[in-house]
Amino acid sequence: MIVLGSDHAGFPLKEEIKKHLEDNGIEFVDVGCYSPERYDYAIAAQKACDMVISGEAKKAILCCGTGIGISMAANKVKGIRAAACSDYFSAKYTRLHNDANCLCLGSRVIGCGLAFELVDTFIYTEFEGGRHQTRVDQITAIENGEKVY
Ligand code: RB5
Repeated sequence: MIVLGSDHAGFPLKEEIKKHLEDNGIEFVDVGCYSPERYDYAIAAQKACDMVISGEAKKAILCCGTGIGISMAANKVKGIRAAACSDYFSAKYTRLHNDANCLCLGSRVIGCGLAFELVDTFIYTEFEGGRHQTRVDQITAIENGEKVY
């Protein structure tokens, strides 16, 4: 299960991503927003990321104007590793190396075609583990107030 969320700026791209997921038979839940009316990105980020942390969803895909504000908010949720991506390489490697569990996209930055490629890459690319697990564990340690140096 994928959880989707956006602010008002990301709303049009989120709606296109929903159609793309439907066309490809990928299950999702949409935590809003549900219209182009003003809706602050931190609300969508926290709602979606809480579902990832609770296990109700495996990964989150979030949209705002740049993909940045919503990624900053998402990364404040303990256990979330959110990546704002606007290119294929980053979307692939944030899964392979960072085990990102949240993809953030900017509706004012990229078009639907590229967004769909990034979404598919994010969904289907598996984490490599190994030495990268050590680094992800260090991120978690920082999150828990531990020193990693
Ligand atoms: C909303 O106008 C815009 O600031 C927001 O969507 C996002 O781009 C912030 O990072």
